[in-house]
Amino acid sequence: MRFDVLTLFPEIFSGYMTQSLLKLAIERSLVSIHLHNIRDWSRDKHKCVDDRPFGGGPGMVIKPEPVVEAVEDVQGRDQQTGHVVLLTPQGRQLNQTLVEELATHKRLLLLCGRYEGFDQRVSDLLEPDEVSVGDFVLNGGEVAAMTLIDTVIRLVPDVLGDENSSRLDSFSSGPYPENKRLLEHAQYTRPREFRGLEVPEVLLSGDHTAIAKWREQNSLERTRERRGDLLEHTDSPKQEPKP
Ligand code: ADE
Repeated sequence: MRFDVLTLFPEIFSGYMTQSLLKLAIERSLVSIHLHNIRDWSRDKHKCVDDRPFGGGPGMVIKPEPVVEAVEDVQGRDQQTGHVVLLTPQGRQLNQTLVEELATHKRLLLLCGRYEGFDQRVSDLLEPDEVSVGDFVLNGGEVAAMTLIDTVIRLVPDVLGDENSSRLDSFSSGPYPENKRLLEHAQYTRPREFRGLEVPEVLLSGDHTAIAKWREQNSLERTRERRGDLLEHTDSPKQEPKP
């Protein structure tokens, strides 16, 4: 899967890309991330990309020309054009269903805003898929883009060591009946007893049917306690992957 990230601060991604799961996925050519500095498309001799908002008001707005031209150029660098996502608090909210939808694309082009955001004509012309990571305002789209990448790559085949582990994640529709998305069950490891707290006996029993039953029950209980709203919602049938 290929990600193209258009940002004014590409350095923000360097630590993230060189650690852990993503680093391994890149080394194994399962994922590629291409960073592009929007400033490189500025025609201004000072490489300026923003300006004051028409009509007044605080802050600066990112000009449309460098952003639209950057997207057009970057799209042309691979035979397969990318699905354009603009990270903004005004977008549809990222959840596991949307992550699954985004993971059906082979290439995503992520547009990260800063300041007061992009000039409206960026959206009018590019018609991006506008995505928010939550009802709060970040200082820019970069952390949101990393969140999106982090969630999507878990669904790219072979990225996770154990092929089942994303299927069993919280919010995954994988293992539960009636397409319900539940929180994941509690997990335990050694020692069997810690400060008087014991690991549930059934998990030590080796009885896989009993263990699966306990886990499903535990998932249901914690979902009921913590996120009752998830139990009211049933997923529609899964979509076919997009070409
Ligand atoms: N940029 C600023 N805040 C954001 C949010 N909540 N989601 C996505 N992009 C953002």
